[in-house]
Amino acid sequence: MLDDREGTQAAGLIRLTEPRPVKVIAVTGGKGGVGKTNVTANLGLALIERGREVMVLDADLGLANIDVLLGLQPRFNLSHVIEGQCSLEDVILTGPRGLQVVPAASGVRRMANLSAREHGGLIQAFSELYHNVDVLLVDTAAGISDSVLTFSHAAHHVVVVVCDEPASITDAYALMKVLSREHGVTRFQILTNQTRTLGEGRDLFDKIARVCDRFLDVTLEFMGALPHDDYVRRAIQRQIAVFEAYPASPASMAFKNLAAKADKWQMPQGARGHVEFFVERLIQGAGGAADGLQ
Ligand SMILES: Nc1ncnc2c1ncn2[C@@H]1O[C@H](COP(=O)(O)OP(=O)(O)OP(=O)(O)O)[C@@H](O)[C@H]1O
Ligand SMILES: [Mg+2]
Repeated sequence: MLDDREGTQAAGLIRLTEPRPVKVIAVTGGKGGVGKTNVTANLGLALIERGREVMVLDADLGLANIDVLLGLQPRFNLSHVIEGQCSLEDVILTGPRGLQVVPAASGVRRMANLSAREHGGLIQAFSELYHNVDVLLVDTAAGISDSVLTFSHAAHHVVVVVCDEPASITDAYALMKVLSREHGVTRFQILTNQTRTLGEGRDLFDKIARVCDRFLDVTLEFMGALPHDDYVRRAIQRQIAVFEAYPASPASMAFKNLAAKADKWQMPQGARGHVEFFVERLIQGAGGAADGLQ
């Protein structure tokens, strides 16, 4: 039997190895092709440069491509997890700079039509991972399908990528409308993409904020602007993230600023009562913080 002192030491050791809370950021946008996947991968690398351990989840379940963007060749992906052929742990790949990548399937129609229960099961499966992760970035599909809504709702922060085109603005608005009215997500981080200057990005943000202010009960924050940069296209051709391939490019500089912003976002104080990623770590984290105050 352990005496008191040994018992205290053992409890201390358990606490040291307890997985730490994870900040979960969904990257979404409504319209297809606005730059969500590119943002997810490069924001991840820029956060790693700031000393964070980062995992990215390809939640474009039926048309996944974050692995292609990073030049990775997964043997297993989330469709194998859903089919029970392997565990979530088995599909995680290590990308550039130690970026942990959870790849999904491409061209598997069933994956694009999972039930709410299956989405919930996937989100829950992350809780069983023992990986050291500070930030989980979730690259969602285009549109306002159940998967987009569920993964966005299950995150702590929602980044909406918007370009200065009527269809992108309309789709981003529609997405925020559904997320706020049907899921109670009322705070959004707007990331403008493909503008020429920061000023143009800010103008686009103001335009969206004006419409949302009038018709929706939401709070928008300007996360920042990613400029149009031909190095992004060149990096994609080479299947290397622009942050790796062209670190001095305007896009890479923007990603440093965007990562600095994301790094400052707070964790929620505790569980919020719906399906969310890493909820156990949040509860344990809250317990740990309380321990520290005693
Ligand atoms: N800042 C940028 N500068 C130049 N080109 C860009 C920029 N951002 C995105 N692109 C171009 O847009 C294309 C689409 O980007 P990406 O695949 O990240 O979009 P997506 O929103 O994830 O698309 P989907 O909705 O299909 O998942 C890229 O292949 C790239 O050519
Ligand atoms: Mg994408």
